[in-house]
Amino acid sequence: MKNIVIFGAPGAGKGTQSDKLIEKYGLGHISTGDVLRNEIKNGTELGKTAKGYIDNGQLIPDELMVDILASVYDGFGKEHAGVIFDGFPRTTPQAEALKKMLAERGHKVAAMIELSVPEDELMARLINRGKESGRSDDNEETIKKRLNVYHTQTSPLIDWYAKEGIHHHVEGLGTVEEIFSRIADVVDGL
Ligand code: AP5
Ligand code: MG
Repeated sequence: MKNIVIFGAPGAGKGTQSDKLIEKYGLGHISTGDVLRNEIKNGTELGKTAKGYIDNGQLIPDELMVDILASVYDGFGKEHAGVIFDGFPRTTPQAEALKKMLAERGHKVAAMIELSVPEDELMARLINRGKESGRSDDNEETIKKRLNVYHTQTSPLIDWYAKEGIHHHVEGLGTVEEIFSRIADVVDGL
């Protein structure tokens, strides 16, 4: 299993680049944001809880996220060469829980790929997407909260993964193809 964490601020291109990784490497995709939006759409209890947090740009509590993640991961079985984690982990407890969950299965994260993009570009991309996405969190006020949450709760994971020796920095500005070729260089080197 070649598991990859695709990491970055809201709007960094995690989802966009995940689609290309799936196509080229046959990886499975776990986007915790997509999982939660699906729960909201289906009106589940989890969805009802998640909606309040997402609409306010806040993170869903770690305990909830970790349980969801293990069950989604196990659902992938042996059909994929590995999994892309998109939007998870977002806190240090989540990173520790992911490491433990994978270790219990004899697996690990092979690389954490950080897409770095300047703040004004992130804002522009998300405002632009908000015109059509229908995502309740793609409005200026909520985007600002999401960026703040990223800086305070999520960005410390860059150092966390650097200490694990698997952090890779990728310049996230450029065309989708240019960025993907930088990511592919990292993956091919694993
Ligand atoms: P989530 O769905 O993960 O959203 P996010 O992290 O805020 O990131 P986005 O999906 O908005 O951006 P992205 O990096 O995927 O970029 P994309 O490729 O779409 O999480 C949403 C919420 O769910 C959280 O706020 C939280 O409440 C909750 N949640 C999720 N996971 C959680 C967890 N683990 N713990 C707790 N809570 C959790 O690109 C963005 C836009 O830019 C698109 O329009 C795209 O077309 C465009 N674009 C992409 N690349 C380029 C490029 N190179 N040039 C120009 N435009 C580009
Ligand atoms: Mg996304």
